[in-house]
Amino acid sequence: GIPPEAQADTIVVRWNDVAALERAMALHGRETACVVTEGVMSNMGVIPPKPGYLLRMQELCQEYGALFYLDETVTGFRLAAGGCAELYGLSPDIVTYGKALGGGLPMAMIGGRAEVMAGLEWGKVLHFGTHNAGRLALHVTKTMLETMLADNQAGFRRIKNLGKAMADEVRKVAKHSNRHKIVVQGVNSMFQIFFTDLEEVTDYRDFCGHVDRAKFRDFALRLMDKGIYMNPSATLHSLSSVVHSEADIAATVTAMTQVLEEMP
Ligand SMILES: Cc1ncc(COP(=O)(O)O)c(C=O)c1O
Repeated sequence: GIPPEAQADTIVVRWNDVAALERAMALHGRETACVVTEGVMSNMGVIPPKPGYLLRMQELCQEYGALFYLDETVTGFRLAAGGCAELYGLSPDIVTYGKALGGGLPMAMIGGRAEVMAGLEWGKVLHFGTHNAGRLALHVTKTMLETMLADNQAGFRRIKNLGKAMADEVRKVAKHSNRHKIVVQGVNSMFQIFFTDLEEVTDYRDFCGHVDRAKFRDFALRLMDKGIYMNPSATLHSLSSVVHSEADIAATVTAMTQVLEEMP
């Protein structure tokens, strides 16, 4: 488990709230080793950062001498070739990747500025592991990168366009549904549907207090009966891939329209 000391040494700051972050840094910035964030929240549906939020976070880290650590485990190689760092113009000190990086095989990666990574050199920080740099996963990762980056990143362009088209189509369906209040949030290849009374879900507190997770589960299970799989957990998200097609979007939208009509 997580030792209580780890939690005691962690300060949780409401996300997407610049004022809260500035207050926390003013109080604790000098003794803060590292500020950790995802660029787009992905374990509470999909919550994009407000304009300028992440850049301000990075700036505060520089001001107070804390490392800026961007967790791209979910967003890396999905939202853009360079993940959220590219999308929002960030230069994090530390980045982590996983999931899409391995194209389905177990693969994770840590990166950072040379000065930070030098801390791992020659065993200064031990980083041993059974699966470290496994050849099969490395080969698959190389193939994923070659495939997605070919033709001036056509693969990344495709998943972005498909994801945005999907989210836009679902927004249209949601608009026509007068019985269910639905908000669709997405960034490039990633989207989620929220049954909520809010206009926008901007952080975890919004998500916990205002998103009807049971209703989403019912929605997803009904979709499954019509042959469309969405993970029934509202905390997760849906993603486009290069094998999806415009026909998949059309079929999904038809099924969603029917399900929303059938739902109580
Ligand atoms: C945002 C985020 N970061 C990190 C992790 C954990 O990554 P790993 O399993 O590579 O430690 C997950 C989920 O697996 C995640 O969703």
